Amino acid sequence: MASLTVRQLDDAIKARLRLRAAKSGRSVEDEVRVILREAADSLDALVPRSSGSGLVQDSDPVRRTRSATSSKLPRVTLIIGGGIAAYKALDLIRRLKERAIHVRCVMTRAAQQFVTPLTASALADERCYTDLFDPQSEFDAGHIRLARDTDLVVVAPATADLLAKMAQGHADDLATAILLATDKPILVAPAMNPLMWNNAATKRNVAQLARDGVSFIGPNAGEMAEANEAGVGRMSEPAEIAAFAETMLRPINSRRLAGKKILITAGPTHEPIDPVRYIANRSSGKQGYAIAEAAARAGADVVLISGPVDLDDPAGVQVIRVESARAMLAQVEKSLPADIAIFAAAVADWRVANAGEQKIKKTQSGLPKLDLTENPDILAAVSKLKQNRPKLVIGFAAETENLIANATAKLKRKGCDWIVANDVSPASGVMGGDRNTVHIISANETESWPVMSKDEVANALVKRIADATGAKA
Ligand SMILES: Cc1cc2nc3c(=O)[nH]c(=O)nc-3n(C[C@H](O)[C@H](O)[C@H](O)COP(=O)(O)O)c2cc1C
Repeated sequence: MASLTVRQLDDAIKARLRLRAAKSGRSVEDEVRVILREAADSLDALVPRSSGSGLVQDSDPVRRTRSATSSKLPRVTLIIGGGIAAYKALDLIRRLKERAIHVRCVMTRAAQQFVTPLTASALADERCYTDLFDPQSEFDAGHIRLARDTDLVVVAPATADLLAKMAQGHADDLATAILLATDKPILVAPAMNPLMWNNAATKRNVAQLARDGVSFIGPNAGEMAEANEAGVGRMSEPAEIAAFAETMLRPINSRRLAGKKILITAGPTHEPIDPVRYIANRSSGKQGYAIAEAAARAGADVVLISGPVDLDDPAGVQVIRVESARAMLAQVEKSLPADIAIFAAAVADWRVANAGEQKIKKTQSGLPKLDLTENPDILAAVSKLKQNRPKLVIGFAAETENLIANATAKLKRKGCDWIVANDVSPASGVMGGDRNTVHIISANETESWPVMSKDEVANALVKRIADATGAKA
């Protein structure tokens, strides 16, 4: 039998376990035993009883699975459309379940040409629904219950055909009837050939659905199943869809950080060479701004000290704009004390020591000599404060090689509590892009997150901070 130790669990779960154990006056191990016992009891309640046992089995699968989901897990109805990417929907079921999300599958007729309802049922631990005119579940309008008895409807893969039917309000099969009857949010992951995706009709349908409040993830660019075809049309990866679904299901803007002051830096710094020229880097500030917005949504009092970026101020955030590393440090010091500090800015390591007071002129006598000098290290300065050190200091490490090793060394050198490490090599597309792949490094462990949008990284980081600081929902 596999063994599991509390040490192997991730930090967020450990923090929640400790909190639960403290509340009930038990050791963490005893608390785990209680949780497992409760889970086993509720599993017992779900196992279908044979009629020979004398116990009555509910013959309605929808009603039976409703009691199965009576636990507090958030529920997703996953509609699988008839495209090549249907096989990825099977992985999506597992990814959602890994995140403690209950999954109920519905397949279109075309989807069943690609994957079988049996596989989806086995992975979801629940019958997969396929038929609008299913006497077993339709005697009391099962499609309406399937539409309502959920917290989120995910369509993956969403075919061009499904998008068209949704945009037009068709309801001629179970999937479209559910989509029309639901009062819950809908997340759509389109997947199709780039020509289908770029077709004017699909564009119209997507625009209509976005106006109707449907959320989209992807499609991504990449190779197609068809030989020698590439472009935008690949379904987002199951891990990305699951992460997005979780942020829709468990919004972290539940004011868990109310009463906490959070200091965040973002963007590049500009180090003057003379009044018109400067040294800069490619940081867009998007990740820091997204964190500031997510923290503000979670109720924190957020001060964002930003280098020069082309972004609007995030809602509910006090923004202080600066140019240089020294100005950024001055504003950080002015803004302390804070409970938490997140240093996401890409602060220039060096500045020009002999910056010209006037524009440096091109002369015949050769190139101007620029002497570089080191800039203040804001992360180390705050991490090593004796007084007013925020309880949680988080640095960012943007690396182009040896990501984890370099970031771990940085954590020790700077004295901060966590490092958010990200690969910013040109191939990663992180600098200036909308996606990020990060690793959260602390003294004890490294947690690697899947590719996510910068907003998703921000939400997940804020949730992790709330978990680690014991902030209650
Ligand atoms: C081999 C094959 C692959 C297909 N892949 C896709 C696809 O990736 N995306 C898409 O929109 N349609 C694709 N189609 C077309 C759909 O299967 C077709 O439009 C179908 O009616 C969709 O039904 P549904 O939307 O009810 O699932 C494919 C068809 C075939 C035969």
